[in-house]
Amino acid sequence: MLVSLLAFLITECGQNRAGETGRARDIETIPATDTVKSVQEIGNAPGDTGSEPEAEEETIVKAVFDFERRTVMLISGYEMPLNGLGTYSFHGDESIDSVKSALSNGVRLIDTASAYGNEKEIGQAIREAINEGIVQWEDIFVTTKIYPGNEMEYPARSIQACLDRLDIGYVDLMLLHHPDPNDVEAYKAMEQFVEEGKIRSIGLSNWYVEELTEFLPQVDTVPAVVQNEIPPYYQENDIIPFIQDLGIVVQGWYPLGGRGHTGELLGDSVISEIAGAHGVSSAQVILRWNLQKGVVVIPGSSNPDHIRENTELYHFSLTEGEMARIGALDRGEKHDWY
Ligand SMILES: NC(=O)c1ccc[n+]([C@@H]2O[C@H](COP(=O)([O-])OP(=O)(O)OC[C@H]3O[C@@H](n4cnc5c(N)ncnc54)[C@H](OP(=O)(O)O)[C@@H]3O)[C@@H](O)[C@H]2O)c1
Repeated sequence: MLVSLLAFLITECGQNRAGETGRARDIETIPATDTVKSVQEIGNAPGDTGSEPEAEEETIVKAVFDFERRTVMLISGYEMPLNGLGTYSFHGDESIDSVKSALSNGVRLIDTASAYGNEKEIGQAIREAINEGIVQWEDIFVTTKIYPGNEMEYPARSIQACLDRLDIGYVDLMLLHHPDPNDVEAYKAMEQFVEEGKIRSIGLSNWYVEELTEFLPQVDTVPAVVQNEIPPYYQENDIIPFIQDLGIVVQGWYPLGGRGHTGELLGDSVISEIAGAHGVSSAQVILRWNLQKGVVVIPGSSNPDHIRENTELYHFSLTEGEMARIGALDRGEKHDWY
């Protein structure tokens, strides 16, 4: 019997990200991310004549969270932090102050999008934080997204526009924000930017089982990340394992229910009781619950106290019983249309 081994060729993450302080990250010295999967024959089992070729078996390597390093290794070969800052709804100085506050508090993953209209400010905040010695280039992980419609119709132009607005050398992760009639072509354009070293990892946002099943056979690169809505009232319990079993990391947006809905969720009696038992806040319980499900969290906040609190997720853990109690809160209640 043929035994096949799927080995992910992982490029080392230590290429030159730094440049000099105050200088954008140098794209020329960064090799393209190698997302190639290699299936290797490692031998014949006893009794196998070797004459009959058999179908190759693929072993998908599921991403594992490293709670010590607070990172996960993506299928693209790059490490991504487990908790970040969402920047949806931030504009102007609020974007700059929130990102710098997050970086000062040890947050290293910043999530933005072309549609948020704040990429310029996010890039400015990052450059200022570097100049002020708050953070090093090599520690920052920036995600952005291109939007359906006009942006995905002309994807190369839109991707370059994101890079230009951010002006931080390259982007760590770029996502297609939603499915679109031109999404396969847009994804291929992102693959081209990976080849050129201008993007490190690529992925999808608001893709579910049906969409992934249709989309994945049409592209060469396995998405590193799928970012979907995952608060306790909308848990996607059938979708998350489907995505994770493909070796893709799941990231949750609206972890706290989204603006206008956080009050009810944070005040939920089950979550409040669990928070009390651990001496933490409801927000910390929800974020920790996500992490223990293998879901990366990107809560949005412009409040420095909340930003700091949302990083303090590693000194306690939820029991199986507590995980199950939060699991039982699912009521399929989505807080956005996509
Ligand atoms: N891919 C997509 O389609 C998509 C869609 C939506 C969002 N996203 C991403 O997901 C991120 C998160 O979503 P979101 O920011 O809209 O919603 P969220 O993270 O669920 O909730 C943000 C709200 O929670 C409050 N909050 C944050 N931390 C708190 C804490 N420790 N205690 C009490 N309240 C707290 C914030 O208020 P304060 O500012 O007062 O702390 C804000 O009102 C976005 O910023 C964006 O990056 C992606």
